[in-house]
Amino acid sequence: MDNKLQLQDWLVLCETYEATHGVIGAKIHGALPFDQNKLDGLGEHYCKVTNKEYRSGHGQFFTPKEIVQYLIRSTQYSPDQSVADISCGSGRFLLGALEEMIEKSKDIHHIQKSIYGFDIDPVLVRITLANIRGLLARKGYKISIKDKFHIQQADMLEKTGGLFEPEIRFDCILGNPPYLKASPKLNLGHPNLYASFVEAGIRYLKPGGVLGYIIPKSFVSGAYFHRIRDILTNQVSTEELVTIFERDKAFMDVLQEQILLTLKNKCPSKDSITVGTAITNGKFEVKKFDISRDIVFWNADIICVPETELDAALIKKCFKNGFKKVADSGLRVSTGPVVAFRRKQYLSDETGKDYRPLYWPHHVSRFTFNPKKEHKSRPKTMKDCATTAPEKLEQDAVVFKRISAKEQKYRIEAAMIKKQKCGLFLENHLNYIVREHESAPSLDIIELLLNSSLWDRLFRLINGNTQVSAGEIRAFPIPHKIEHLKKIDDSDRRDPEIKIHEAYGLTKRESKYILQR
Ligand SMILES: C[S@@+](CC[C@H](N)C(=O)[O-])C[C@H]1O[C@@H](n2cnc3c(N)ncnc32)[C@H](O)[C@@H]1O
Repeated sequence: MDNKLQLQDWLVLCETYEATHGVIGAKIHGALPFDQNKLDGLGEHYCKVTNKEYRSGHGQFFTPKEIVQYLIRSTQYSPDQSVADISCGSGRFLLGALEEMIEKSKDIHHIQKSIYGFDIDPVLVRITLANIRGLLARKGYKISIKDKFHIQQADMLEKTGGLFEPEIRFDCILGNPPYLKASPKLNLGHPNLYASFVEAGIRYLKPGGVLGYIIPKSFVSGAYFHRIRDILTNQVSTEELVTIFERDKAFMDVLQEQILLTLKNKCPSKDSITVGTAITNGKFEVKKFDISRDIVFWNADIICVPETELDAALIKKCFKNGFKKVADSGLRVSTGPVVAFRRKQYLSDETGKDYRPLYWPHHVSRFTFNPKKEHKSRPKTMKDCATTAPEKLEQDAVVFKRISAKEQKYRIEAAMIKKQKCGLFLENHLNYIVREHESAPSLDIIELLLNSSLWDRLFRLINGNTQVSAGEIRAFPIPHKIEHLKKIDDSDRRDPEIKIHEAYGLTKRESKYILQR
């Protein structure tokens, strides 16, 4: 069973919790199996007794207090305002706001009409209600089970696919929306529910209202997230983007880079935006600074989130300095055309005259192409015939892997493949670059740049997922002083970092920063 307790068991537990804290009319039905003095003992108990796969499958992760408090501060939430969490879970954000209201001695009528929570899961809705009543009773408010709060079960994305005008709007929306792949049937216009929740949250804001969310970083790049980037770039005033680093991995239980987003429901008017990093290494520390918006928002193609002021300087120097892009330098960047499952019948290990080598990511590492490397489930060749011929590569190319993870020392791993007599095939998990014009930089230089620490750093700043897409590499800058790189002799080839930095005009400090990372 997914949840070891049924709805009825939770109703009993929630009522007992309320009774323990003195909610009038609530009955005790036995001992509580958790520490009743914890702010969200109920939510913690829910995580303990509900199977982790079930919670992951339903996007149920509850936010640590430090992050709740941070977003309450970054949104400048005031206890006079109305506040909502439209995917409230066990109600941690609402409890955070409620603590502020209690601190300012707000009366119960104000609290009842100012706090709104919604969740699709009826158990969590009941837990949120018990948490709110319990905290109020504990703080001396006279609360009975008859007192109503706006905590409701609802599918908050039900209406977001079409045009939707909410009946109610809030001053402040806080939350941690579910991270779940959106089924195409839902037709939400976003690849992941968290992006739909950003859009829905904005619709629920009053004009000038503020939203504070913790969301995955994947929206910053990739074609699928274009719509949410357009909203954050052009339709609202995005005020803050703070990247979270989880050194200990114990904080959120989620293996994804995340961002603390703060925005205002008004047209973008300021020239600057606040960016920075939050580090969770036992304690929660945030370092932030203001930078010009044009460093962050690239026409909705990319949202680039520098983590330090030196990152911002590098972005400016490399991407905003008039250098030609890879795509405009006589180079073509493409994705390996062989999609294995579509070409199944032509794949084999045969080496006869009609077969050409097929190369996969396992053949490629930094500066090294190893065609002999074996992989038990990867066929070595593909038949050369009328169907497959258009997919054949017949010129020199630099290939690089399409999938990489932030934990890798280098996100981009590139190697040269020299042209072969009868051509070769590249599988779809490789990208490649070829020269299309004689003015194009040499492929040796492209291989150097792709494998450099500088491009690695720049890439990390503009990428939020595990892909290295051809589109991202097309936007990379080729320095004017490329001749300088040509002087790198063979002994230098694997360590030409300083010369690359000089070609981009980096200062000594910037260069040191890149090399130290
Ligand atoms: C990541 S949890 C966050 C809970 C809470 N906001 C917090 O930060 O602790 C996301 C919540 O969204 C809820 N949820 C998922 N889909 C939903 C939907 N369509 N409408 C409303 N809530 C939804 C899940 O049940 C889950 O409780």
